[in-house]
Amino acid sequence: MGAKVRYYCRVKALTIAVDGYASCGKSTLAKDLASALGYQYIDSGAMYRAVTWYLLQHRLEAEEGENLQRALSDIAIDFVTQSGETVLLLNGKEPGLALRSKEVNRMVSPVSALHSVRIAMVERQRAFATRAGLTMDGRDIGTYVFPEAELKIFVQSRPEIRAARRLAELRKAGELQWTLEEVLANLRERDTMDSNRDFAPLRRADDAVDLDNSDLNREEQLAWALELALARGAVRP
Ligand code: DC
Repeated sequence: MGAKVRYYCRVKALTIAVDGYASCGKSTLAKDLASALGYQYIDSGAMYRAVTWYLLQHRLEAEEGENLQRALSDIAIDFVTQSGETVLLLNGKEPGLALRSKEVNRMVSPVSALHSVRIAMVERQRAFATRAGLTMDGRDIGTYVFPEAELKIFVQSRPEIRAARRLAELRKAGELQWTLEEVLANLRERDTMDSNRDFAPLRRADDAVDLDNSDLNREEQLAWALELALARGAVRP
């Protein structure tokens, strides 16, 4: 009987971290990469938004203390796929566009700077890592959540382009009262807060690859990132 020949595949599912400033297209890129590679996609910013929304709904202050501890233990966050889209569920319900509201945009940076909020979210984010491949976008994914990620992309784009994208997103969410100047000011304020907080601030990982997508369309940025992912051995699980 002839010897059985086994082929071992050296390719693997990767963890891909996509970090960068507010509204620079991180989520779109991470989502597109996940769907092209058959990976799971997690929007870590949506998790901080969900905590912020919960605190607002329950009229709780953005401060450390017993109330926050209780809230964090009462919050269950899941991601489910609906019609091909990854949707966040907060305690089984879909907050949807409420996560993009004006109040949430105003509060999310102070809330996400709270130590216990970060500890709780990072623990959950790490639990999403599977053998099946993952793309996650945020601020500290390559530096703190997954420092061992096989591919880290740091995204930037010009402020006026980011503000225009954000304004379009807000209009879609029914938030018609924002002006372009207000949006730009909110982005700048959040970037400053996110970059200057004590714990796991927004920072480019030393081993990240830079992407300025100001002059790229969605397909072009995906093609660029896919090439990188494939060069690092990404395959469909
Ligand atoms: O990506 P986004 O704009 O939806 O994120 C909302 C806020 O959440 C952002 O201003 C800072 C915070 N955030 C964070 O602190 N760490 C992450 N990994 C992702 C988001």
